[in-house]
Amino acid sequence: MPKNARKNVSHIVGVVSGKGGVGKSLVTSLLASEMRKRGFKVGILDADITGPSIPKTFGVSNRVSADADGINPALSNSGIKIMSINLMLPQDDIPVAWRGPVITGILKQFWEETNWEDLDYLFVDMPPGTSDVFLTVMQTFPIDGIVTVSAPQELVAMIVGKAVNLAHDMDVSVLGLVENMAYFKCDECSKEHYIFGEPQGRFVAKRYQIPAYATLPLDPAFAHLCDMGKVEEYDVDHKLDTIIEQIELAAKQADEKKAAEKAASANADAAGAADEKAADTANAAASTNAGADAAQGSAPEQH
Ligand SMILES: Nc1ncnc2c1ncn2[C@@H]1O[C@H](COP(=O)(O)OP(=O)(O)O)[C@@H](O)[C@H]1O
Ligand SMILES: [Mg+2]
Repeated sequence: MPKNARKNVSHIVGVVSGKGGVGKSLVTSLLASEMRKRGFKVGILDADITGPSIPKTFGVSNRVSADADGINPALSNSGIKIMSINLMLPQDDIPVAWRGPVITGILKQFWEETNWEDLDYLFVDMPPGTSDVFLTVMQTFPIDGIVTVSAPQELVAMIVGKAVNLAHDMDVSVLGLVENMAYFKCDECSKEHYIFGEPQGRFVAKRYQIPAYATLPLDPAFAHLCDMGKVEEYDVDHKLDTIIEQIELAAKQADEKKAAEKAASANADAAGAADEKAADTANAAASTNAGADAAQGSAPEQH
């Protein structure tokens, strides 16, 4: 059997941020859950090898198994396939103190050797910053694009800018910016309070030509549901729609590009086959002529 015949992933989206603790894992979990609710086949690759949090937020703790084809990912309640280093350790509080090359090796294995089966979307929850892992994912995964996450107090254009510029340098599209903890909605007066000041993400998105922008509130329900392993139960109430539309658009464009490339290579093959056929015909004609010449040449001379 060829290497991992059970991996057929259509689209990959990375979720990144300049800093830790801004809600990357939360946004990854919400995007994946929302796509699942919309009927897509979804997976999450937890690329935060030294700080994995996806299994906990989904309440998945059973260790993954492997078979002859590769590693079988864990399944969340709603059917999201999850692969994380924490599902391979004997205990989830064992620290992972590996150096960069080992970590990037593990990551490639997670991508290549996991039996993802058919997936419409694989979300990659990245570690903070523009480290080794970021580069490995950008370079080795056939990624459609990235979603950046920031929180208002760290929303210095520079931090978002670093990830965006690196993605551009690596020819990866930036699909959207989620500004997390942008406001707090008071349950008594229903007013939205901008605790950290007016969100600035819209301007930053514009400045870096990021096509979609969304905000998420500071909501104690997030922390509670994440702690309980029930992040899938959160009703995101259209707050991430702009980002999801952009992800779907990028997927459609990638599909069209693939189809065009396939058609072009089929045409090239057909043209190649036609050329070959023409060459064969020409050769056949030439050899018939040669045969005829030879026959003529060898014809007994008439006396
Ligand atoms: N909008 C929010 N409201 C309340 N708590 C949040 C929010 N976003 C994140 N959190 C909490 O903050 C912590 C860090 O979030 P996380 O998604 O793990 O960040 P990152 O992956 O960027 O390090 C988690 O405990 C999470 O539940
Ligand atoms: Mg995280």
